[in-house]
Amino acid sequence: MDALGAMKDAGCEQLSFARDAASGLQAVIAVHSTKRGPAMGGCRMYPYATGTEAAVDALRLARGMTYKSAMAGLPYGGGKAVILADPAGGKREARLRAFGRFVDSLGGRYITGVDLGTEVTDMDLVALETKHVTDQTGSLCASGNLTAEMTAYGVFLGILASVKETFGTESLAGRTAAVQGLGKVGASLCRYLHSAGASLVVADPDVGKVHQAAAAYGAHAVDPDVIYDEACDIFAPCALGGVLNDSTLPRLRCRIVAGAANNQLERPEHGERLERLGMLYAPDYVINAGGVITTAVDLEGGTAKEAAQRVQAVYGTLRQVFHEARLFRTSTAKAADRRVERLLAGP
Ligand code: NAI
Repeated sequence: MDALGAMKDAGCEQLSFARDAASGLQAVIAVHSTKRGPAMGGCRMYPYATGTEAAVDALRLARGMTYKSAMAGLPYGGGKAVILADPAGGKREARLRAFGRFVDSLGGRYITGVDLGTEVTDMDLVALETKHVTDQTGSLCASGNLTAEMTAYGVFLGILASVKETFGTESLAGRTAAVQGLGKVGASLCRYLHSAGASLVVADPDVGKVHQAAAAYGAHAVDPDVIYDEACDIFAPCALGGVLNDSTLPRLRCRIVAGAANNQLERPEHGERLERLGMLYAPDYVINAGGVITTAVDLEGGTAKEAAQRVQAVYGTLRQVFHEARLFRTSTAKAADRRVERLLAGP
């Protein structure tokens, strides 16, 4: 990999690698942008095959965090760390402490936290070595899955904004939402949608979660492979990235795509295709900003109530993106990117 070329393509400020012989730590931190403040973004632990693969993922994810934080109006930039390791592997404590020292060596340019493959107890270990960490035990974010809960709340409000844009009313009565993935965010989203009167179609490979949603909300369960084909008003991807792609787009039978998953579009042009197919797409990093907003409130020493109040801004931000997409006759995905690029272009 031409590391500097890859950084240039991603628009990234700093890419750092660390190797600690004693613990076996191999890690990469991408500081995409500190223009609006310290780069914030979680730490992923995954058995990447090579350092290049890990660095490319870190660059991509860090850029996404810059866009998400800027769009949410937060005084933070975007960053991401990846540890090349199997989450089930050994020497976890030693590796995480070495990772904490790596984070500390950046002097506060990067603030880490939980992401795929890491958890609250890992951040407790990181916190022994650096103060530039969130999500540790006792933090606001770690209490009762607040980050996921606030993400779901933001997605719900974003769905209301999308329904208003599409149907002229916010009411979910008589509307059907197909929720893909019943994890921490998807399950809470179902609760919000059900209380607002929506009917639910759900899919998750974990049958226990599916049974729970059926029992609690009368959700109609379908196989994960066929949720794309379900006739519905709202399709809410809340599991994996890349689910909006060449093979799934022709199958969708909805008016709105609005969900929590990161990086939903496999390629940028899939945003344009959704537009051409007459489906309103709520750009992922706009609608799923509830978690990052909660982290910002946590870093400021705020409360859960303040986090919920701040997350309400997702509704208005999304409405502005829809408005700009109409005004400039472009897709919502492009309108969102342009808005962030304007925000980052300032001095
Ligand atoms: P999670 O790991 O708790 O849940 C994911 C769920 O998706 C699991 O129940 C899993 O069984 C299910 N799943 C896996 N493959 C599936 C498939 N093919 N079809 C249907 N379901 C499938 O994750 P969480 O925290 O709920 O996050 C969901 C998505 O939202 C992820 O893409 C995550 O990156 C994104 N996100 C989460 C935030 C948070 O605060 N937790 C914040 C912003 C984005």
